[in-house]
Amino acid sequence: MTSATFLLHVQDEALRREALEVLRHSVNSVPFQEHSGTWDSLIQQIGAVKPDVLLLDLSVLPLELSVAIRQLRFQNPRLKVIAIHATADPHVILSAMRGGANEFVHCPLKESLRSALDRLALGDEATTAARGKVIGFLSAKGGCGATTVSCHVAAELQNLTRRSVLLADLDLTSGLVGFLMKTPSSYSVLDGIKNLSRLDESLWKALVIEHKPGLSVIPAPAVYSRWDHPDEEQLIQLLQFMRTQHEWVILDLGRSLNSIASAVLGEIDQLFLISTLEVVALHGLKTIVHGLFEQGEKLRLVLNRTPKTMNISRQELEKVLGRSLYAALPNDYMSLYQSYSNGNLLDAHNRLAQEFSRFASKIAGVQPMKTKKKFALFG
Ligand SMILES: Nc1ncnc2c1ncn2[C@@H]1O[C@H](COP(=O)(O)OP(=O)(O)O)[C@@H](O)[C@H]1O
Ligand SMILES: [Mg+2]
Repeated sequence: MTSATFLLHVQDEALRREALEVLRHSVNSVPFQEHSGTWDSLIQQIGAVKPDVLLLDLSVLPLELSVAIRQLRFQNPRLKVIAIHATADPHVILSAMRGGANEFVHCPLKESLRSALDRLALGDEATTAARGKVIGFLSAKGGCGATTVSCHVAAELQNLTRRSVLLADLDLTSGLVGFLMKTPSSYSVLDGIKNLSRLDESLWKALVIEHKPGLSVIPAPAVYSRWDHPDEEQLIQLLQFMRTQHEWVILDLGRSLNSIASAVLGEIDQLFLISTLEVVALHGLKTIVHGLFEQGEKLRLVLNRTPKTMNISRQELEKVLGRSLYAALPNDYMSLYQSYSNGNLLDAHNRLAQEFSRFASKIAGVQPMKTKKKFALFG
């Protein structure tokens, strides 16, 4: 954890001095900043500075710890929290762990804080070693093709990279990934969330369906009520777990900027917004791009169902959207219809399938498998 940044929010003077002593003399002399203002200004600072670790004095919290941690992680989903308290009071320890703190340390800090730092450093190495990429697909409005693109790109990524790929349906209300991938009725993303505390490799293997070797699928629930809505922190934890198990995690995020898509944004490496040329879809696309202004560098625009002839050039369209297009996928309704009716994804020789393959190869940064029959839109 040599490059990690620390923020210290400890008001008890004796605790503060002890903590500073440990930080200054730790092996790699941890870089840190201190915060001594109000809770609201701490929240702001977490959002602005995005430290990796917060040392938080429990005695001065103005609100319940679990709520406090949720507010902190809203600003920085990856924040690790070391809860500090003068004594090893079992009630405080239990509430710190239940509240979502990563570590609990008490006086004397010399030993306990140093070992907590070591444990966090080890955990960090383990997660960086096994950090899959998370790619999200979001439809500018329903029907633009987020599900179709997610399923084909997931299959193509596996073909191209031969790595472990997970396709997860986070369109909890109307997810169709399970249907398109022909997964027999099975566990869903919600089962992953319900079992978060005991998720490990073997339980995960029991929850997902192996569509083919190297391509696992976890569908949306068959029945969903708003009472099942997972909270943000649980979703983030599930994604963080998924990326320890798979090299690529492909998410179908449903349509428009819904609450699930917003909740997981921080965990996503690349977010593809899928639109068609329909005016309503393009309007939806612009609204999402505007709403995600701060996440701008993650956004990629994809035009789907692109007609052979368009009455607007690619350059003109890009000017209207204020961004370049990452890909333009052709329109081939009949082939999709036939494949889905036969219970398959598109055949590899199909032109749209080859465009999905090119698209996946661009995401993976590898050479496309088939280069024949280039789709030449926009000249
Ligand atoms: N490139 C394409 N060409 C023709 N039809 C498409 C294409 N992509 C998707 N479709 C069709 O559009 C419809 C909506 O696609 P879907 O993937 O379910 O969209 P979303 O998940 O965004 O609601 C489906 O009937 C699908 O077969
Ligand atoms: Mg869909």
